[in-house]
Amino acid sequence: MNIEIQNRIKDAGIVAVLIFHEKKEIRPTIEALSSGGVSAIELTLRTPIALEAITIVHTHYPHILCGAGTVLSPRQISDAQKAGADFAVAPGLNRKVMDEAKRMGLPFAPGITTASDIESALEYDCTLLKFFPAEKIGGIAYLKSLNAPYQHLGLSFLPLGGINTANLTSYAKEPIIAGIGGSWIASSSLIAAGDWDAIEKNACSAVKRFREE
Ligand code: 3PG
Repeated sequence: MNIEIQNRIKDAGIVAVLIFHEKKEIRPTIEALSSGGVSAIELTLRTPIALEAITIVHTHYPHILCGAGTVLSPRQISDAQKAGADFAVAPGLNRKVMDEAKRMGLPFAPGITTASDIESALEYDCTLLKFFPAEKIGGIAYLKSLNAPYQHLGLSFLPLGGINTANLTSYAKEPIIAGIGGSWIASSSLIAAGDWDAIEKNACSAVKRFREE
């Protein structure tokens, strides 16, 4: 992972996971997140509009660090890069995807849950790793045990999966955590309801809670 992007994720602290279904949702969601202090997003490639949404964010909100999420194929690496993604993330660890990300020079954080996953990621020079699904698999206690043999390598982790403002504190205080992500800040239901105030409030409280640590 490119160190500049890794540092920008660290500076941002909170990464909002977004799923857009309609074009009209994109700008108000980004503006609400931005007003609430969230400056990094994972825009998931789960809907037909996702790549266009990345381009809109890249063009109109250059201060937002925009990652493509749910990247499952090599083709999606080049599509995300062309659309303007700053980095890419996946729920799992796919060698073809890691190979393409390395070839294209797109900073990439694969999903890991085991020591073998970490070692595979290291083969591709991935040093920022998505820890997913964080809460279900054992939370920060599990992650710290998992990272113990690799501590000298200075890996950073982005935990996602089941995290929210109430439980993010356990992760936020740990130096191995680059940032914390999740869909709760701008959930699909809040976006569909056009509840920009709630998204801004969630963003604000997540950033505040993260910074308190
Ligand atoms: C994802 O890629 O969907 C995320 O990891 C989000 O997980 P969450 O919905 O539990 O926040």
